[in-house]
Amino acid sequence: MRRIILTPIILVSILPLSIISCTKNEENGKEAKLEEIEVKEVEVSEEIVTEDKGKADTIRGKYLYNEKCANCHGPTGHGDGPQAAFLDPKPTNLSDAKYMSTLTDEHIFKTISEGGIAVGKSNLMPRWKFVLLENDIWIVVAYIRKDICECEYKGS
Ligand code: HEC
Repeated sequence: MRRIILTPIILVSILPLSIISCTKNEENGKEAKLEEIEVKEVEVSEEIVTEDKGKADTIRGKYLYNEKCANCHGPTGHGDGPQAAFLDPKPTNLSDAKYMSTLTDEHIFKTISEGGIAVGKSNLMPRWKFVLLENDIWIVVAYIRKDICECEYKGS
């Protein structure tokens, strides 16, 4: 009964409070249970951090995409950016889920990092490795997957 009442109270309480309870109960063998609860609490906050990081990455991905890619590939990836008219071949339609799911994440990364020429495509697709950090390139890959094609690699 005590535990049933105690658990929700501890779960909603802030971490320092559980630390205090832990020290208080150190002598009477209750610390194991309290530790378990503490671990649960840490897991919850990690989830929140991951969720925030996910959101932050999407925002950054969108920013980088709009800044570096949309000019050619278009704001929604349809290959219709303002510069597309002057290019032959045309910028790839990155929103084409069917095509994009034949490309691995590593292939997309390599295309962005080393340019079209590195993957047997046109050198009109620039290389970005001297402009974007490796981590930012992965963030753009994730953004293309999540918001542009809404697709995953499914095999070629
Ligand atoms: C100057 C215009 C231009 C810019 C800027 C540009 N691209 Fe491209 N991109 C192209 C063209 C043109 C192609 C098509 C190459 C071909 O079909 O041979 C292409 C192809 C691609 C492909 C397809 C590769 C494949 O194997 O089919 C991906 C993925 C890609 N670009 C991603 C990006 C990303 C991400 C950015 C921004 C970091 C970007 N591009 C910026 C012009 C551009």
